[in-house]
Amino acid sequence: TKRLVSGIKPTGQLTLGNYIGALRQFVKLQDELSDHEHFIFIADLHAITTPQDRLELRKNIRSVAALYIACGLDPDKVNLFIQSEVAEHAALGYIMESTAYVGEMERMTQYKDKKGKQTDGIRTSLLTYPALMAADILLYDANVVPIGDDQKQHLELTRNLATRFNNLYGETFVVPEGFFPETGARIKSLTDPTKKMDKSGDNEKSYILLLDDLGLIRRKIKSAVTDSNGIIKYEVRNKPGISNLLQIYSSLTDVSVKDLEKKYAESDYATFKDDLAEIVVDAIRPIQQKYFEIINDTKLDEILNQGAERAKVIASRKMFKVYKKLGLGRIR
Ligand code: TYM
Repeated sequence: TKRLVSGIKPTGQLTLGNYIGALRQFVKLQDELSDHEHFIFIADLHAITTPQDRLELRKNIRSVAALYIACGLDPDKVNLFIQSEVAEHAALGYIMESTAYVGEMERMTQYKDKKGKQTDGIRTSLLTYPALMAADILLYDANVVPIGDDQKQHLELTRNLATRFNNLYGETFVVPEGFFPETGARIKSLTDPTKKMDKSGDNEKSYILLLDDLGLIRRKIKSAVTDSNGIIKYEVRNKPGISNLLQIYSSLTDVSVKDLEKKYAESDYATFKDDLAEIVVDAIRPIQQKYFEIINDTKLDEILNQGAERAKVIASRKMFKVYKKLGLGRIR
């Protein structure tokens, strides 16, 4: 059987960007690719590449799990689990570090961005993180990996590592394909639409959190940065703000940007933003309702147990093969 694999890092709260670029795709694909086996996890090992408060991290892990369900992932169709509960991720991560070169890790733009100007206290795992991500994917022989644009380079590296390993030790891993949403693969900041919408952005108005108060969401959209020319048209270079809002609108309604331009040809920005605010609120309201129903329910634990159990079956088989190819351990 073919497989689909993806994950989200439980640092801070999830944004509308995570929803459009990833979560919403996972939900669509559970039906569209019903012939695939689906593995969606909470990438908690990736969270500790930077310092985390332990209680906060625990809370965030559960929160992402609840959001998976709240957004519509069906545990009968998708194996949901926590990365650290399947020890093979870290084990294969190390093998991938022993496949990758330091130079290719240092070239990753996310590493360069996150490292910034800092020279002290950068954790080794921040550099080697893409090796763990490759392991997350290759462990399950994933064919399809739904992600947003910012993960494209990591997926490219994963493909290279799979191919390199196969060439060195014989056919072992499936070389995966990325799956990117048609619109909304890179939702931008509401205050600086040249940057991506990111939960670690320092301006609270720059992002919409899935658990934001609905009134706050409306206000954030209404105060989103646009331009002074007053025409609702998709033109990323000259009109990055409006183009971003059009993308959000289009991805949440499945109405094409072209059709939206026609619909709003005679409208001003205020009218357009009012409509968009309602569309975003309508998308998020049911997610929040479901979230608060499930967050304290032990059913969530059952779902995560079940998912981890299935993941372990596949993952341990794969590690057995990998160790054998490498000559690690003993003949068994
Ligand atoms: P993370 O947790 O930063 O983001 C989770 C997913 O959300 C997408 N995303 C966005 N999409 C559109 N617009 C945005 N503004 C936006 N911001 C985030 C990301 O592209 C991603 O798909 N390394 C990964 C997690 C991971 C993973 C994996 C993913 C670990 N192992 C294996 C796939 C397969 C990460 O940090 O994503």
